[in-house]
Order: sequence, then structure tokens, then C-alpha cells
Amino acid sequence: MSRQLIAGNWKMNGLTADADGLAQALRDGVGQVGDAAELVVCPPFTQIAGAVRILAGSRFAVGGQDCHMAAKGAHTGDIAAPMLRDLGATHVILGHSERRQNHKELDETVREKVVAATEAGLVPIVCVGETEDQRSADGHEDTVGWQIKGSLPHGFADGPGVVAYEPVWAIGTGRTATGDDVATMHAFIRAELVRQFGDAGHGVRILYGGSVNAGNAAALLAVPEVGGALVGGASLAAADFLAIAAAARG
Ligand code: PGA
Repeated sequence: MSRQLIAGNWKMNGLTADADGLAQALRDGVGQVGDAAELVVCPPFTQIAGAVRILAGSRFAVGGQDCHMAAKGAHTGDIAAPMLRDLGATHVILGHSERRQNHKELDETVREKVVAATEAGLVPIVCVGETEDQRSADGHEDTVGWQIKGSLPHGFADGPGVVAYEPVWAIGTGRTATGDDVATMHAFIRAELVRQFGDAGHGVRILYGGSVNAGNAAALLAVPEVGGALVGGASLAAADFLAIAAAARG
């Protein structure tokens, strides 16, 4: 099994001074956390170049938070995967629930973006997860199963792509899933990946995301089949993010 991946999703936060300060603090502090985790931060588009510059030669990779499915063309306001690569990004978050909700992204859209990202040489971090209503109606496995089937293209498991299980009700709410829920859902996702991709499905990392913080990271990262964490709010404070990185297993 590969090392755990700790990915920071800065979302729509960070003017230049804040973003540069955060990147510098991560760079300065990373020597104090063990080297168990693979580390990536995903700033907003406008701060990617700065983060790449500040974090160059450190253990941190830099990623985007979305990309278009086309490599270029008449898509005003969008950013293509080769543009992210051109800036020095190596990863991209795709199908985050905030994009699925705010931008009506469908599984099919996410799948096309995953193809575009992979063709551009980026590692896609593909998010899935049920809403509170879907969980209350006992539809969480169905929802996540369909998202996996619809969002991951043929051959996904042969590449470096990562899946992030992020229950929507746990994002930004301070409510994490319990260790048992995480264990159940990650085992379910693993089984779906193996059903869809055969043996290669065993090698896909499955991150947990949703209110991960310095206090709960060790317990969440110790759950079987948890291959790392996708961290929102707590990734905006260098000390918190580094504490989460320190809790990772090699
Ligand atoms: P949160 O966000 O850690 O603030 O809950 C996680 C995410 O949306 O990726």
C-alpha cells in the first residue's frame, strides 16, 4: 500500500499575502513532521503559481481545485488541465460536492474532467459522498456506488488517480463521520473499485474528507482502507495542517 496522502483544499480562500504566508509556513514547518505522508496543497487558481514558487524543492506538491474537460477553446472563465500543469501543478481535485452542488456537475462531467486531467499528466482526486438526506434514507451506499460508477473513467485504477470519500454533511460542519462509518464506507468503496476495475481497484488510494482536524486526524487515519485525508478548513492554518500530516501512516 502506498503512503497516505494528505491534501489541503484551500477552497476560495487566500489573497496573495495570506496564501504566500501559508505556503511559506508550511515549507518552514514541514521538517518537523515525520516523512510518512505524501503532501499536496490545492490553492485557488490565482495562488497556484505563487504556491509552486514558494514550495519548489519541498515535499509539497501543488494542485488545482477543478479543471475543464477540454484542453483549450472557447470556454470563458474556465481553466484547462494543461494550464494547471503548465503552472507546475501536479494534482487536481475533481467532482467536489461544492462543485456538484454550485455548478450542477454531473458524474458524467466529472468523468470527462478526470480524463482531461489524466491526459494532461495530473493526478485526479475524485470526490464522492452522500448528503444528509441520502444517508437518513439509507441511500448512502447507492449514492456513492453510482458516483463511483459514473465519475471514474475506464482505466482509472491503472493510473495514479485517488478517490476521496467526503460525506457532504461532514464538510465544514465540525461533524466527522464515526470511525465505524468511515470503515464501512471505505470498505464499500474498495469493493466497488474492485468490482469495476478488477485487481487494479485494490491499489487506488481512498481519502477521507469532512471536518478532519489536528485532534481527530490520528483516529481517522488509523481506520482500515483510509489512504489519507482531504482537509478543508484545517488546511488554512499551517500548524493544523502539519499536525494532520504528522498523524499519517507511512
Ligand atoms: P472541511 O472540508 O475539512 O472544511 O470539512 C473538506 C473538503 O471540503 O474537502
